[in-house]
Amino acid sequence: MNSYEKITIIGAGNVSWHLASALDESGCSVVQVYSRSAERAQNLAHRLKRTKPTTSLDFADSSATLFILAVSDDAIAAVARQIELPERSTLVHTSGGQPMQVLSEAKTDQIGVFYPLQTFSKQRTISFQNIPLCLEASRSEVLGGLTQLAQKLSTQVAEVDSQQRAVLHVAATFVNNFTNHLLRMGEQLLQDAQLDTTLLRPLIEETVAKAQEMGAAQSQTGPARRDDEKTINHHLNYLKSYDSVYAEVYQLLTGHIQHVFKNN
Ligand SMILES: NC(=O)c1ccc[n+]([C@@H]2O[C@H](COP(=O)([O-])OP(=O)(O)OC[C@H]3O[C@@H](n4cnc5c(N)ncnc54)[C@H](OP(=O)(O)O)[C@@H]3O)[C@@H](O)[C@H]2O)c1
Repeated sequence: MNSYEKITIIGAGNVSWHLASALDESGCSVVQVYSRSAERAQNLAHRLKRTKPTTSLDFADSSATLFILAVSDDAIAAVARQIELPERSTLVHTSGGQPMQVLSEAKTDQIGVFYPLQTFSKQRTISFQNIPLCLEASRSEVLGGLTQLAQKLSTQVAEVDSQQRAVLHVAATFVNNFTNHLLRMGEQLLQDAQLDTTLLRPLIEETVAKAQEMGAAQSQTGPARRDDEKTINHHLNYLKSYDSVYAEVYQLLTGHIQHVFKNN
């Protein structure tokens, strides 16, 4: 099994920010952080114990054995091609939406994925302890090393292949990205009507708590669930004069809820 005690992080964005700190605190040594911007690399390195910032992708002389690519999905393949690695080192990415093979042109055959299934923003503090870490590797000894490392950070570690991860990522996009966008649309409606957006907070909290406890299918309420056509039309009339895109989103979701509950 490979051992990953010295690690280099490529990228200084949201995931690097949190993952580098979690690795540092777990006793691993983050030896280098890379960004195209010297300032961003420095800002991240300053948060860590003994980390060198760098703007070079030449790591041929690095003491690290694991290189974590936490860059935008569209940049992974190009950076993997470009990066110079020490012998027998491992290269992984952190993306839910990209297969492991996006690293196939890297100068190592020890590749893998270290996907934390959570939403990260620099401004937030987040504990890795309960974040599912979804792992994949090109070799069993790499998977063993990644598993040992992941278990230092989290109690939820799972082997997930590229196909399964693609499904997880679509589902994560629904439950996080789209839900967040709907929250924003709700806030906007209130703001534009000069209403206090905090009025929605208890409802938002209960929505998530109830779906977690009872299951989302059992938790559905509202005019679409009840087939209350008069209320639905009332809402649609308001939205059509407010913003036609809001009306389209409303209609699409209402139609799907009605379809799902048609025979229930
Ligand atoms: N944010 C999340 O919630 C989340 C959750 C799980 C997984 N992920 C995955 O983690 C990865 C990083 O996401 P993120 O949210 O941390 O992204 P981010 O905050 O947007 O940061 C992206 C990083 O990629 C670097 N980058 C972009 N293009 C590059 C290029 N051509 N060459 C070198 N570096 C480049 C940027 O570097 P510079 O500093 O040089 O501009 C920046 O440091 C992605 O694969 C994403 O799918 C994200």
